[in-house]
Amino acid sequence: MILKTQNLTKQFDGVHAIDNLSISIRKGKITSIIGPNGSGKTTLTNILSGIIPIDSGCIVLHDTVTLSKVRPYDMPSYGITRTFQEVRLFEQMPVLDNVLVVLTERNVFGALFERHGSFHLKQAEEVLRRVGLWDKRMELASGLSYGQRKLLEIARVLALCEGSQASIILFDEPFAGLFPQMVKAVSSIIKSLKQEGRSIVLIEHNMDLIRELSDHVIVIDSGRFLAEGSPSEVLERKDVIEAYLGE
Ligand SMILES: Nc1ncnc2c1ncn2[C@@H]1O[C@H](COP(=O)(O)OP(=O)(O)O)[C@@H](O)[C@H]1O
Ligand SMILES: [Mg+2]
Repeated sequence: MILKTQNLTKQFDGVHAIDNLSISIRKGKITSIIGPNGSGKTTLTNILSGIIPIDSGCIVLHDTVTLSKVRPYDMPSYGITRTFQEVRLFEQMPVLDNVLVVLTERNVFGALFERHGSFHLKQAEEVLRRVGLWDKRMELASGLSYGQRKLLEIARVLALCEGSQASIILFDEPFAGLFPQMVKAVSSIIKSLKQEGRSIVLIEHNMDLIRELSDHVIVIDSGRFLAEGSPSEVLERKDVIEAYLGE
């Protein structure tokens, strides 16, 4: 197991967003986390990426590090990176610079300077080719379509992976709102990240994609663990179907 949560709890004004949750993420696999709207999936990714603090419980990484406090700037050093459900870009910067910023540790001036440095430039160009945004590299991020914005965010995650040993990647609904062609592009990127040996946590609603991509599925409901297993096992369970129908 590359990542485990133990009795994780997070409340917002008395609402149990995450409720005594203990789950395990497998090394080198795609683990999907599913559950109805409001079941705590985004809260969980926010916790795992250090964006919001934990009330209680802990996170165990690589079977060795136990964290009861997580901070965003610590997480890359544990090999964790993520995408956001709401894409966050530097709107007034070209696509290329949005990637360079990541390669140069999110320093805007560093990125402008690095445009002339061949090493990071090469890496940035490589990830833009990989996601199919090469042609758009000089356009402002604000001019991209919705799907292209998602691809750019994924390019930024890939860039983060390039230079580091980022081994756990959290995808929060990367397919939401994408056209079929983009869905294909994103799913093949996710598959290739797995082939590189990275461990993926995928949050997704589309059951066809869950079946296609997941090695393991974990179902949460009201912040609590409900079920886990292979996609075919889990998606046929009566309690899982009921949790979704009860939405
Ligand atoms: N920042 C917040 N402040 C207050 N309540 C929140 C906040 N974030 C999430 N919640 C609540 O926590 C629960 C889980 O939300 P969320 O993690 O976004 O679910 P999901 O991603 O599964 O749809 C919901 O009841 C939601 O309203
Ligand atoms: Mg969500």
